[in-house]
Amino acid sequence: MSDLGSQEAKIRSAASAAEVDALELEIFSRKHGALTLALKELATLPPAEKVKKGQELNQWKQTLTDAITARRQELSAKSMGALGSDDKLDVTLELPPHDRGHQHLIPEFIRQIEEVFGRMGFDVAEGPELETEENNFNKLNIPETHPARDSQDTFWITDPNEKLPPDKRYVLRTHTSNMQIRFASTHKPPFRIICPGRVYRKDSDATHSPMFHQFEGMMIGKDISLANLKGILVTGLRELIGRDVEFRFRTGFFPFTEPSLELDMLWQGDEKDSKEGRWLEMGGCGMTHPNVLKNCGIDPDEWQGFAFGFGVERPLMIKHQIPDLRSFYHGDLRFLRQF
Ligand code: DAH
Repeated sequence: MSDLGSQEAKIRSAASAAEVDALELEIFSRKHGALTLALKELATLPPAEKVKKGQELNQWKQTLTDAITARRQELSAKSMGALGSDDKLDVTLELPPHDRGHQHLIPEFIRQIEEVFGRMGFDVAEGPELETEENNFNKLNIPETHPARDSQDTFWITDPNEKLPPDKRYVLRTHTSNMQIRFASTHKPPFRIICPGRVYRKDSDATHSPMFHQFEGMMIGKDISLANLKGILVTGLRELIGRDVEFRFRTGFFPFTEPSLELDMLWQGDEKDSKEGRWLEMGGCGMTHPNVLKNCGIDPDEWQGFAFGFGVERPLMIKHQIPDLRSFYHGDLRFLRQF
């Protein structure tokens, strides 16, 4: 019995819940528990003693069970209390700044282009980067002998020397102008479209990359003039790049527009340049050539319009004073996080 008495003392001073569990097992385990064994011994006692001892053991059973429950409660209350004092949570503490990703500046700028021209009534049209010679060159009135077709500039997918029909010869599109053909051949005028996307050319230096982005615009309708073209372009580009950006229109030549213009913007980004900066070519534009309309099944006597095609990277270089176009693709977070 004194054995059970010392168990009771141990329970009351147990330091942890695990200790209480172990003591419970020592006392109540079905096979070796001290109380279990004592109860078994009852059977060997003479009847008078058996009753007395039985009552005593029952008393112990109650006492020890109560002690275990009480100690468990004390210990758990203690640990909850410690949570409150040792691990205090200050819910008003400001968290350290959290790194959040954001759009790369090229898709972000494309989204803005779609929005700005969208407000002027332009729908977005997208098409494949793997294009036929027919759509990338022929139907755009680009003659066989045009230098743009040169294998030095163009990534040919099928062998350029193989004699195949132009709709079976493939290139990585060299410009987004292929979308003029794809859209105008499948839609009735009037329409206005803006077509952003990737284009490919064998070029690589500070202002050229073998893959870059362009956005093409086309507007076909009745009585559309060069004045409409200039108005829409200048409005759109000012909105996108900044009110104070300086433009210069020059006469140019593109087989798919007549007359054609080239547009330059003043760039300050290169330290080698003079203080005044240098004019950087942004792209071309002009009134759609009647042959292009005819190639798309549109009557040029009834419908006229304009088209333009601009790079995406170059206006961004001007907007953010970025000196090297290739920084857009290096994936250097120190560069990307600035925007
Ligand atoms: N496709 C031409 C290029 O990549 C740019 C261009 C010029 C597009 C005149 C046009 C345009 O739509 O009318 O160099």
